[in-house]
Amino acid sequence: MNIAMIGTGYVGLVSGVCFAEFGFQVTCVDKDPEIVERLSREETTIFEPGLELLLSRNVRESRLTFTTDIAEAVGSADVVFIAVGTPSRRGGGEADLSYIMAAADEIAAVMQPGQVIAIKSTVEVGTNEVVRDRIRAARPGVPFSMVSNPEFLREGSAIEDFMRPDRVVIGAEDDHGREIMRRVYRPLFLRDTPMVSTTLANAELIKYASNAFLAVKVSFINQIADLCEKVGGDVQDVARAMGMDGRIGAKFLHPGPGFGGSCFPKDTRALASIGRKRGARQLLVEAAENLNEARKLDMAERILTQLRAEGGDTVAILGVAFKPNTDDIREAPSLTIIGKLIEAGVKVKAHDPEAMEAARKLLPGVDWCRSAWDAVSGAHVTVLVTEWNAYRALDLRRVSALMAGTTMIDMRNVYSPAEIAGTGLSYHSIGRAS
Ligand code: NAD
Ligand code: UGA
Repeated sequence: MNIAMIGTGYVGLVSGVCFAEFGFQVTCVDKDPEIVERLSREETTIFEPGLELLLSRNVRESRLTFTTDIAEAVGSADVVFIAVGTPSRRGGGEADLSYIMAAADEIAAVMQPGQVIAIKSTVEVGTNEVVRDRIRAARPGVPFSMVSNPEFLREGSAIEDFMRPDRVVIGAEDDHGREIMRRVYRPLFLRDTPMVSTTLANAELIKYASNAFLAVKVSFINQIADLCEKVGGDVQDVARAMGMDGRIGAKFLHPGPGFGGSCFPKDTRALASIGRKRGARQLLVEAAENLNEARKLDMAERILTQLRAEGGDTVAILGVAFKPNTDDIREAPSLTIIGKLIEAGVKVKAHDPEAMEAARKLLPGVDWCRSAWDAVSGAHVTVLVTEWNAYRALDLRRVSALMAGTTMIDMRNVYSPAEIAGTGLSYHSIGRAS
């Protein structure tokens, strides 16, 4: 079985590497020659735990190759995956499908009869049909199967998520498409991973509905956290006990500075926009979207209030990636928070184990530090924004001794008031009395 993967970003690279690890012959295509060149010499282009080992093993064993030449990849493929980006369109909520359409046109020009074309990118309802018709119009009489195969991996645990998904969703229109996809995912089905076989439109809806539901869940617990602060509750206890109810589930009940990343913000915007366009407004999703934007600004305000109370001008930020174990800063809450601080004239010192290179370009006014210790030195307020393991067991007395002020704001509830007591720090967390 030969696989072509068009688009070698977070999803395309992880999927390509994992399919090669299953023993398939995989050719990954990217239009960015630098990405292709670096991956070809086994250098990872993103930070993702476990990726480096699988990349080098499969390149060395000649199951995985990289190219900018789509014809080379598509020519011999049984299935051609499209994994290009679908960012928010500038000035609007809907997804920009131009990369999808461009990839479809390029595939159409070189495809062979009988191939399966599977969209892995997250796309608006109806996109698979539009792509199918576009390819048909470009190559009339050449048979192919259109498949919608949304991806549910998370950054930071992408390899594990790909290898052990909760389900594989296959939207298909014919038996050939379904059968080829069954063969592609056979290694997972051997482990009893459920396969959901459905229509193209349902597969597209399942992806958006799943992401939006999780985003709403995060926004919900963030609102409960706000209430806990006002009434003297502890959101950690509340969320833990809520999560014990099997109907609710414990995951995605961690309060924080708001959800970020390349998917929840853009996918909630896109679903809300689809709902408005099609006359079925997604009011819960719209609310989550608005609450999340407001939350990031509220987080910046909390920092400024504490800074004023300290009478200081310097803030240390620990963690700028949108979540731990990734170098991805797309729509990270830290970007809004730091942006507001800089706008207010605050001196910002920041550290992140992996994301500083990407963040440096977007946040030029920040003093990027080589370690958490460098960042907190001389700071009046220290803010833990991303819960990297490296920040989970900080010597808090040392933090306190290095700082010019005493305030620590823990936006991920990594520590507890009891742990902070006696360190000299004045502690503020999320959803708990200060
Ligand atoms: P990305 O921006 O990291 O990667 C996209 C890659 O596609 C880029 O390297 C770009 O150069 C390349 N590309 C664009 N057009 C191309 C073309 N015509 N030919 C060859 N290469 C081309 O994007 P991503 O984060 O991997 O997301 C891809 C899709 O998967 C999106 O729809 C996203 O919503 C979805 N998704 C992402 C994740 C995630 O964790 N990032 C998880 C599930 C689903
Ligand atoms: C998310 C989904 O979890 C994946 O299933 C999906 O495939 C992916 O989007 C996508 O479509 O791209 P990801 O964005 O990588 O994955 O990361 P998550 O772990 O979902 O976290 C998203 C954001 O929510 C982060 O900013 C995180 O800090 C925040 N979050 C998450 C919370 O604030 N609290 C939680 O309890 C969980």
